[in-house]
Amino acid sequence: MNHPFFLLLFLILLFFNGEAAVMPMNTGTLEHIDPTLPSARAGQEPKCSVLVLRHEFANTLGHPPATANFSQPEECPHPWSRVVLELAVSATDIQKSRMAAVWIDGAEILRMSTPVPMAPGAFWRVEKDVTRYEALLLRLSSVNGGALSMMLENSNKTLPGVYHANVTLHFYRGVFADARQGYTAHPSVKGLYSQPANLIYPISQDCYGNGFWFRINNESHVPVSSIAIPKNTYRAVLEIFASHHSDDEFWYTKPFRSTFSQNKAGNHMTTIKGNGAFRQLYATIDGKFVGGHIPFAVIYPGAINPYFWSPVAAIGAFDIPSYDLDITPFLGMLLDGQLHEVGLGVREATSHWLVSANLHLWIDPISDNVEAGLSVYRAPRLRIHRHAEWHDENGSSDVSTDGIVRFAGWVLSSKGNLTTTVRMKVRFRSKVEMHEHGSAKTVEMIHKSRTTLGVRRGVRSMGHSDMFVEAPFHLQTMSVPAPAGGVYEKTRLTHQLKEWVYVDNREMSGTSAVTDRQEVEGSALLHGGEPVWGSGSMKSSYKYRDAEECHIRVVNTEAGVVKFDATSRSCSAVADV
Ligand SMILES: *[C@@H]1O[C@H](CO)[C@@H](O)[C@H](O)[C@H]1NC(C)=O
Ligand SMILES: *[C@@H]1O[C@H](CO)[C@@H](O)[C@H](O)[C@H]1NC(C)=O
Ligand SMILES: *[C@@H]1O[C@H](CO)[C@@H](O)[C@H](O)[C@H]1NC(C)=O
Ligand SMILES: *[C@@H]1O[C@H](CO)[C@@H](O)[C@H](O)[C@H]1NC(C)=O
Ligand SMILES: *[C@@H]1O[C@H](CO)[C@@H](O)[C@H](O)[C@H]1NC(C)=O
Ligand SMILES: *[C@@H]1O[C@H](CO)[C@@H](O)[C@H](O)[C@H]1NC(C)=O
Repeated sequence: MNHPFFLLLFLILLFFNGEAAVMPMNTGTLEHIDPTLPSARAGQEPKCSVLVLRHEFANTLGHPPATANFSQPEECPHPWSRVVLELAVSATDIQKSRMAAVWIDGAEILRMSTPVPMAPGAFWRVEKDVTRYEALLLRLSSVNGGALSMMLENSNKTLPGVYHANVTLHFYRGVFADARQGYTAHPSVKGLYSQPANLIYPISQDCYGNGFWFRINNESHVPVSSIAIPKNTYRAVLEIFASHHSDDEFWYTKPFRSTFSQNKAGNHMTTIKGNGAFRQLYATIDGKFVGGHIPFAVIYPGAINPYFWSPVAAIGAFDIPSYDLDITPFLGMLLDGQLHEVGLGVREATSHWLVSANLHLWIDPISDNVEAGLSVYRAPRLRIHRHAEWHDENGSSDVSTDGIVRFAGWVLSSKGNLTTTVRMKVRFRSKVEMHEHGSAKTVEMIHKSRTTLGVRRGVRSMGHSDMFVEAPFHLQTMSVPAPAGGVYEKTRLTHQLKEWVYVDNREMSGTSAVTDRQEVEGSALLHGGEPVWGSGSMKSSYKYRDAEECHIRVVNTEAGVVKFDATSRSCSAVADV
C-alpha cells in the first residue's frame, strides 16, 4: 500500500464502516438526459402528435411486449417531412437499468438501456427521428392496421421501481427549418439514404424474452430469417441493431489470454474469460458474408459506476446506434422471388447478444422486373492479431485488426443500369494492462472505420458518400478490498463517438459531423460486483455541424447534479468539429 491513492482510499474508507448495504438515494437531478441534437428546432411545431402507447411496466420479465393499435389521424396525412418518436418514461422508485425496445409490426425502431432510477420520480425522454421508417408508419395507418409494441423487462420484486412509459409519434409537414441530411439519429449521423425505403422487413424472431430479436451465444451461432423480396427491388440496405449482455456486457474491456491460467491445484480455470475486446456485427445472405461493422461500445447506465451516468446518459445508451450495410450489390442473389436466408452474426461473441435487423427495400415504381449481378466481391475475413504476456494477474494483451472489403454490383431497373460500389475499411486496436495483481487495470481501445459508397451509370458518377467513424475509449481502474467487505474502486474513463459524413448525389450534397465526448471520473464501493455506494463527475460535450447549422452542448455534472449546461448555435469558437 505504498501508492498515494491507496493511502487516500484507506482514509476515506475509515468513514465507511460498511454501512452501505443498499443503493442510497441520490438527491440529484431527477431528470436523466442525453444532451444531443434536438429532434426539431425549437418553435417548429408538429402538425399532429399521437400518444400511441401508454403502459406500466411492473413485473414484465418474460412477458410479451405491450402492444397498441394505431390509426393515423385524418388531419395529418402522408407525406410527412419528418416523424419523431418520443418515449417518455418515469420511475416510481429506485430500480435497476433495464433494456427497452420499440417495434412496429416486429421491426425494431428504437433500442435503449434505461437510466438507473436512483430516487422516486426519476424520469427521462428519448426523441428519435424515425422518418426513415416511413414504410412501417404507413402500415400503421393502413386499412389493415399495424401494431406498435414496446418491451421493458422489469421486476419490482427486489427493487420497488415501476416504469410508466408513453410512446408518442410527432408528425411534421411542410418545409423544415433545418436542412439536416437525411435522418440524423442521436447521436449518429445517418445521412446516406435521403429517400425512405418503400418496404421494411424485420430480420428477427419472436424469441428471447418474447422480444423480436435473436439471441446470439457464440461466434458460430448465426441465426437466419427466410425472406422473399419483390422482384423489382432496386436498392437494399440492412440495418442491424445489437446490444451486449451477460458475459459480453463488458466486451470492450476484455483482455486476451492465450492460455487460461491454472489454479493452485493445476486445474484449468474456466472463470477467466479472455477472448479480447474485438467484436464484429455482420450479415450473411445464403451463407455469404455481405458486410460488417465493429459496434460502438455503449456503456449501460448500471455499468462500471452507475453514478457516472446520472443524470447524463452514456453515449448511445438512450438510442443504441444501429449499423447500415448497403447490400444493393447482392441483389442478384435475391431477385428470383424465392426465399433466401439472411443471417446475423457477432464475431468473437460470448453469451449473449440480442440482435435484429431491418431490411430496407426500394421498389421500382415502373418496372416489374429488375435484373442484377454481383461484379466485385473481395471480402477477406478480418485477421485478428493477438499478443499477450501474463504472469498470473499481471500483464498485458493486445488485440488488433485492420482490413478492407469491397463489393460492387449492377442493377438494371427503370433508372438504367446502375453499378453500386461499397468499400469498407476498418482499423481496430485494444490494449489491456493489469498491474498490482490485477487490481490496477488500463484499457485503451481505438476503432476507426471508413465506408465509401458510389453509384455510377457506365463511367458517370450518379452519387457518392463517405462516412468516417472514430471511437476511442480509455479506462483506468484501481481497486482495493474495503476493510468492511467488498471492493473499493476508483475509475477514470474517456470515450468518444465521432462521425463524419460526406454526401453528394442528386438530392443533396454536403458534409455533416458529430463529435460526442465524455470524460468521467469517480469511485464506487462494490459488494458482489454490485455498486452499493458511489460518486462521480462528468464533462460531456456534443457538437453537430453541417453547412447550415451548428449545435454545441456542454454539460458537466458532479455527484448526480448538473453543474454546468450551455448550448451554443455558433461553431466559430470551436475549431475541431
Ligand atoms: C388490435 O386490432 C386487432 C385487429 O383489429 C385486434 O384483434 C386486437 O385486439 C387489437 N389490439 C389492441 C391492443 O387493441
Ligand atoms: C403519459 O401521458 C399521460 C397523459 O397525457 C400523462 O398524464 C402522464 O404523465 C404521461 N407519463 C409520462 C411518463 O410522461
Ligand atoms: C409491483 O407493481 C405492481 C403494479 O404497480 C403492484 O401491484 C405490486 O404490488 C408491486 N409488487 C411489489 C412486490 O411491490
Ligand atoms: C453456440 O451457440 C449455439 C446456440 O445456443 C449452441 O447450440 C452451440 O452449441 C454453441 N456452440 C459452441 C461452440 O459453444
Ligand atoms: C450492366 O452494367 C454492367 C457493368 O457496366 C454490365 O457488366 C452488365 O452486363 C450490364 N447489365 C445488363 C443487363 O446489361
Ligand atoms: C505483479 O506486480 C506486483 C506489483 O505491481 C508485484 O509485486 C508482483 O510480484 C507481480 N507478480 C507477478 C507474478 O509478477
